[in-house]
Amino acid sequence: MTTALVDGFGRVHRDLRISVTDRCNFRCAYCMPEEGMQWQRREDLLTFEEIERVARIMVERYGVDGIRLTGGEPTVRAKLPVLVEKLAALGVDLAMTTNGVSMPLLATDLKAAGLRRVNISLDSLRADRFEELTRRDELDRVLDGIDAAVAAGFEPVKVNVVVMKGINDDEVVDFAHFGRERGVTVRFIEFMPLDADEVWNNDRVLTQDEILATLRTEFELEPIPRTTAPATRWRHADGRGEIGVVASVSQSFCDTCDRVRITADGQFRNCLFATDETDVRSLLRDGSSDDVVADALARSVASKWAGHQINQVHFIRPRRSMSEIGG
Ligand code: GTP
Ligand code: 5AD
Ligand code: SF4
Repeated sequence: MTTALVDGFGRVHRDLRISVTDRCNFRCAYCMPEEGMQWQRREDLLTFEEIERVARIMVERYGVDGIRLTGGEPTVRAKLPVLVEKLAALGVDLAMTTNGVSMPLLATDLKAAGLRRVNISLDSLRADRFEELTRRDELDRVLDGIDAAVAAGFEPVKVNVVVMKGINDDEVVDFAHFGRERGVTVRFIEFMPLDADEVWNNDRVLTQDEILATLRTEFELEPIPRTTAPATRWRHADGRGEIGVVASVSQSFCDTCDRVRITADGQFRNCLFATDETDVRSLLRDGSSDDVVADALARSVASKWAGHQINQVHFIRPRRSMSEIGG
């Protein structure tokens, strides 16, 4: 029987984000310290069978209908298409967020395995700046990866641009042109305080209003009605494409949040900014029944807070960096 995964504020959770690895082939400055991270031990990562079991419980018992694979960088996990095939069999809207660098190699296999949608992270279209931000000289491969995703038939392909004042905020209009030219949906993301080096502060955030004001100097945009997804969307009035903004900082959307997360090492998080986690891995490995696992998930969601408090004095950063939580 399906029951809803509902919290104390009446929010029903249907969207599961699964980090499949904390590793990454990039070293984005806002995500990881330059010297790299202490990677999780292989034996601590959930196996594909364990991931499939948690996903199945979430889908069959709680009506979860969307699953997104994240990382670190999900394509770093060996044999990812095998996992995709297992999860696709659950009949959910299966998506992935990736840095795009492996898409020239993997896009066709992932599509064939049943992945439906991909979002590709790209914060600069300028080679020198891209290298500074990611500490890798791979802009061309990411651009090829975006084309490969479109060519493989993913629809839509979204490009995530984290906008940071004084770093890449002069590329907003270039990115909007890029989206129209390549046939992808560009989404501008407000910079959130989840960076590894703790460089975040409010002055670095280019807000949704500022992003829109910049775009409107060049384009005519019409609003698209909101859903529970984090992005607010606008279409170009000439019918050629759309853009989105994820305004987590200036206009928090926590009141319609429908998301939960599981980390690569099997810790269940009821919020991106959660400061505690439920150890699902131990339950999966100590012989606990599906009922016990399902009950632990439901209890975590029931105890979820109203939302993050980024702009308030008592805001506490999660202990984990973005590369471990998966965004
Ligand atoms: P779609 O299903 O395509 O809408 O994906 P998405 O936008 O939810 O996922 P993606 O991984 O592309 O994330 C885009 C941005 O939204 C990233 O910066 C995420 O960290 C952020 N994001 C995703 N979910 C949440 C959330 O629940 N809360 C907050 N504050 N930010 C989120
Ligand atoms: N604030 C906002 N978005 C971020 N991402 C990574 N770090 C941050 C941050 N501090 C984005 C990535 C990726 C998505 C999962 O989250 O660029 O697209
Ligand atoms: Fe890797 Fe994404 Fe972190 Fe960059 S932001 S280091 S691509 S996990």
